[in-house]
Amino acid sequence: MPAELVCFESACRARFAVTELIYTCPRCSGLLEVAYSGPFLPPEILRQLWRSRRLNNAPLDQSGVWRYREMVAFLEDYSAVVSLGEGNTPLLEAPRAAAWAGLERLCFKHQGYNPTGSFKDNGMTCGVAQALRLGMRRVACVSTGNTSASMAAYASAAGLQPIVFIPHGNISYGKLAQALEYGALTLQVEANFDQILALVRTLSERLGIYLLNSINPFRIEGQKTIIVEMIEQRDWDPPDWIVLPGGNLGNTAAFGKALREMLERGLIRRLPRLAVIQAEGAAPFYELAQRAAGALEPVRTPETLATAIRIGDPVSWPKALHEVRTTGGVVEKVSEQEIADAKAVIGRCGIGCEPASAATLAGIRKLRAAGTIRAGEDVVAVLTGNLLKDPDYIYKYHTGKLQAPGGQLLSSTYANQPVVVPNDPDRIAEILA
Ligand code: F0G
Repeated sequence: MPAELVCFESACRARFAVTELIYTCPRCSGLLEVAYSGPFLPPEILRQLWRSRRLNNAPLDQSGVWRYREMVAFLEDYSAVVSLGEGNTPLLEAPRAAAWAGLERLCFKHQGYNPTGSFKDNGMTCGVAQALRLGMRRVACVSTGNTSASMAAYASAAGLQPIVFIPHGNISYGKLAQALEYGALTLQVEANFDQILALVRTLSERLGIYLLNSINPFRIEGQKTIIVEMIEQRDWDPPDWIVLPGGNLGNTAAFGKALREMLERGLIRRLPRLAVIQAEGAAPFYELAQRAAGALEPVRTPETLATAIRIGDPVSWPKALHEVRTTGGVVEKVSEQEIADAKAVIGRCGIGCEPASAATLAGIRKLRAAGTIRAGEDVVAVLTGNLLKDPDYIYKYHTGKLQAPGGQLLSSTYANQPVVVPNDPDRIAEILA
C-alpha cells in the first residue's frame, strides 16, 4: 500500500515521498498528512486479522498501534520498530461520571494506561520508527510534559538521543521526572510552549535533529489507532460522540483522520461527532470555531492549571477545524473550577486522570446542560493522561489549596482531606465511628 506525504491545504495538495525530511509543505508551508493509495483489504478481512493478532506473541502484534498496521502503513520494513507495549488501553464504563454530567451512560477510553502514561505513546512509536528509517541520530520536541516523557522513552529504547525543550516552571514534576529518568537531555527554556516550538523548529533544521512534535505527520498516524482500537472494543459500532481535550490539536487531527479513513474503508458506517474541549485561559480554537471563517488568533499568554493544554497557538488548527466540521462536531471551553471538580469525579469512579483529561467530563456536562449532547446519546470521552502525572494538583485540591492561575482559590467541592491522628486505637475508633 504505497504511502505519500500530501499537503493538507486544499489549494496546494502537493505530494512528496514519505522518505523526505520535511514537516511542512516546502511549497506553501501547509501542514502535511500521510496519504495511502490502496489497494485496501476488505473490512471483514481486516477485522479478523486484527483480532487474530491479539493471540500472537510477536511484539508487533501485541502493540495496540502496530496490530493495526494496515492503518499506519508508511513503512516497508517493520524490523526496526520499537514497541514498549503501547495502546491496548481499556474502555471503562463510568456510571457515576455519567450521572454527574447528566448522561445515561458514559465510557472513558483511558490512554493513561500507556507505558509512559499518556496517549503520546501511540504516536511516538511511529515517530521514532520514522526517525530510524530516515537514519536520524537525535530527536527533539517541545512539550508541556507528556510528549517529552514519551519521546524520551521511545528514543532511548531505540538508541537515539532525545533532546527535550520544556517551558521552565510550567510542567508537572511527574512528567519532568520521566524525561530525566528516561535519559533525555532536558532544556528548560524561559519561554512558553508556543515560543519554544518556533525555537525548536529552527534549531532542528539547523542541527539536523528530527522533530517529533505533533506537527510531525507520522505521530498523527500512530494516534489514529486510539480510535481504531476504541471502535474495535465496541465491536465496530461507533459512538455518537467522541470527546477529547484540545491543546496543540494533534489528537483532534488524528481522530478525525482515523474516522474518515475508517469510513472510506468500510470499517464504520457513520461518523461520530468530535467534541473538543479547551481550558478557558487557553481557548483559541474555541474562539475560532465560534466564527464562520478566518484564521486562528493566538492567545499570547495562555494560562491554565491543566498545564498539558496550556497552549495559545496550536499548530494543527487547520486540520483540527477540518475534522470538527467534517464530523459535525463542536468546540467548548471550561473553567478551572469545572476541570478541577470533573477531575475529582473521575477519581471517585476509581478511574482518575490528569487535569487536562478531565476537561472532557467538564465539557460533556456543559454540552449536556446546553442540550448539544442529549442524555441518551452514546458518548466516549478520551482520558489522555494518567492520574499520577500531576499529584501536586491533586493534593492541593483535596486540601483546599488549589489556586487558579490568577491567584483565586478554587472550591474543593469534592475534597477528601487526609486526617492526622494520634497513635491511639481509642481515638481512631472514635473518629471511625
Ligand atoms: N491531554 C494531555 C494529557 C496532553 O498531554 C495533551 C498535549 C493534550 C491533552 C492535548 O493534545 O495537543 O493533541 O491537542 N500535550 C502536548 C505535550 C502538547 O507536549 O505533551 P493535543
